[in-house]
Amino acid sequence: MSKSRMRVGIIGGGLMGREAASAFGRWFVLEDFPVDVELVAVCDLQEKLLDWFRKIPTVKLLTKDHQELLRSPDVDVVYVAVPHNLHEKLYLDVLNAGKDLLAEKPFGIDLKAARTIRDAAAKSGRFVRCSSEFPFLPGPQRVIQGVRSGKLGKLLEIRSCFWHASDLDPTKAINWKRQTKFCGEIGVMGDLGMHVVHVPFRLGWTPRRVYAQLQKIYTERPDGKGGMAACDTWDNALLHTDVTIDGAEVPMRLEMKRMAPGETNTWWVEVLGTDGGLRYSTKEPKTLWTFQRAKEQIWQRTDLGYQMPFATITGGIFEPGFPDCFLQMWAAFAAERAGELGQRFGCVTPDEAVASHELFAAALDSHTRKAVVSL
Ligand SMILES: NC(=O)c1ccc[n+]([C@@H]2O[C@H](COP(=O)([O-])OP(=O)(O)OC[C@H]3O[C@@H](n4cnc5c(N)ncnc54)[C@H](O)[C@@H]3O)[C@@H](O)[C@H]2O)c1
Repeated sequence: MSKSRMRVGIIGGGLMGREAASAFGRWFVLEDFPVDVELVAVCDLQEKLLDWFRKIPTVKLLTKDHQELLRSPDVDVVYVAVPHNLHEKLYLDVLNAGKDLLAEKPFGIDLKAARTIRDAAAKSGRFVRCSSEFPFLPGPQRVIQGVRSGKLGKLLEIRSCFWHASDLDPTKAINWKRQTKFCGEIGVMGDLGMHVVHVPFRLGWTPRRVYAQLQKIYTERPDGKGGMAACDTWDNALLHTDVTIDGAEVPMRLEMKRMAPGETNTWWVEVLGTDGGLRYSTKEPKTLWTFQRAKEQIWQRTDLGYQMPFATITGGIFEPGFPDCFLQMWAAFAAERAGELGQRFGCVTPDEAVASHELFAAALDSHTRKAVVSL
């Protein structure tokens, strides 16, 4: 098989920029994969982070100026992982430079920014997708297959959740994700929301109505310099929505929480029907729960192995984790860009990202007016 090569530049080498570098560093574990990857350039404002990337031999350009990275003819694809207030400007700069883009969520700080980016992406003709990695784990893939099999009967309800817990600690210092001017008015929905809508949207479950309950729990946090700073983002969001499935209205609850006691980074989904049900949580990373209505009603537990969308050398009985699904997401991006995705699950599209912002904007409106908002 002749392989194409995808040369990547990263803008924003923080938490996620380095996670991407880790995925590229393990690319050789993918078997019979049509695309090779090379991390060639990195831009960050912090010297210590640029230093970290010096250990990667393929990185030829380290810069604090993202335009310098974008001028490089060696860069085909840019991954941008920066605070949300910078998304619109940097994503547009990437497109104007004629590069393809894997954007980080939430794809702009608000709905207006998301639409501007989506329209610019369509006009540019570049390949653009948005990040959301959990659906590439075996459990979520089995949930998707189970729903598509049509064997669940009439759907009763859907829940899709992403929960964090570290914000329960009031001494945790403030950062940009807890300040509206950097994170966005949508707060936790911008942080965690793309993760809960990716699978439902791809299954065609787009909310028609939403009633939102948003909570700000701690209004200030240590500023890390001995004082306190305003913490003005939404911490928890419960979105009660209606979706239409096979002509019937089905309740779908989306939960995004920074304060869910005991939940470090729990992504979970549950789909219940009259004949069957499916439940998966990263809390039990290899466990798939399946409901069957037979003579007796049974919830059965299956230990999943390493059945990833893209085959790797990893043993079939081993457990996958966060770096694994992040690698699989990048593989899906590279494969789709090369026209090789086939029937496999793909990354969030610009239209899906805009649809998520439409929902979050409606949720803000719903919460303010204490009303159900139609979409
Ligand atoms: N997919 C996921 O699971 C996931 C997880 C966490 C965060 N994110 C998203 O990734 C993005 C980044 O989050 P993070 O947690 O990596 O943040 P971070 O604060 O760890 O990293 C952001 C980096 O951007 C750099 N930066 C800021 N302005 C810049 C500029 N003008 N040019 C170049 N670099 C600049 C900062 O110096 C910092 O190193 C956000 O959109 C966030 O929502 C995604």
